[in-house]
Amino acid sequence: MKNRVLHVFRHSDEVIRAAADFLRDSIEHALLAGMHCNLALAGGSSPRQLYETLAGPPYDREIEWNRVRFFFGDERNVPHDHPDSNFRMALKSLLQPLEIAAANIFPVDTSLPPDRAAAQYEQTIRDHLGRHYPFDIILLGLGDNAHTASLFPFTSVLDEKQALVREVYVEEVNRYRITFTVPLINAARTVVFLVYGSSKAAAVYDVLEGLHDYKRYPAQLVSPSRGEVHWFMDEAAAGGVDTGR
Ligand code: 6PG
Repeated sequence: MKNRVLHVFRHSDEVIRAAADFLRDSIEHALLAGMHCNLALAGGSSPRQLYETLAGPPYDREIEWNRVRFFFGDERNVPHDHPDSNFRMALKSLLQPLEIAAANIFPVDTSLPPDRAAAQYEQTIRDHLGRHYPFDIILLGLGDNAHTASLFPFTSVLDEKQALVREVYVEEVNRYRITFTVPLINAARTVVFLVYGSSKAAAVYDVLEGLHDYKRYPAQLVSPSRGEVHWFMDEAAAGGVDTGR
């Protein structure tokens, strides 16, 4: 893929620092071109340390956080105060420490039925990002089964071509999720994968160098038409992938 860049480091701490530097530079670049930087956060556990890093020095002072609008690439269908909530994790590790104004935080309204929550979130995105809905930055993780956001293997949402946000019932986790779809992710200017740990090595290999099979390896679908994909990984996750190093 022409627009894919791999950043591999020995230890996860180095990965986090490099990803934080990259996000700072990408936000600054977006703010040169417009009033706001529209950033979609990833869920799960991997990003927490990155968020805590961004909420502290030097990033808390270096970035014009009041011009960043925070969205969520996917959300579990739970209340915002539930321990599994991606919003809650980001609120505690990043948004509250940086004192981000509520007006710049766009959580999924999980008090609604999943289909209505997805439709409303799509409208929120269209209202704030306009017709072509390009996020400046979408941060993603990778599951050990090669899912990303809530695009899980063999789910119908993988083939969604129109909607920007969809609800999906995920058998593996026995729960509804609300997720960005492939068209929305691939409209982004910059996609950043943050993946570390040996448990991800097989999924990383399958996605980057395995057989082309997006139903089995959904993260293979991430290929922004006009943007770049940056993978920030430690050596344990990058495993056997040819990193050109
Ligand atoms: C979620 C995430 C999901 C996550 C991967 C990796 O809501 O769980 O959006 O796509 O990024 O499952 O999760 P970990 O970082 O916890 O390994």
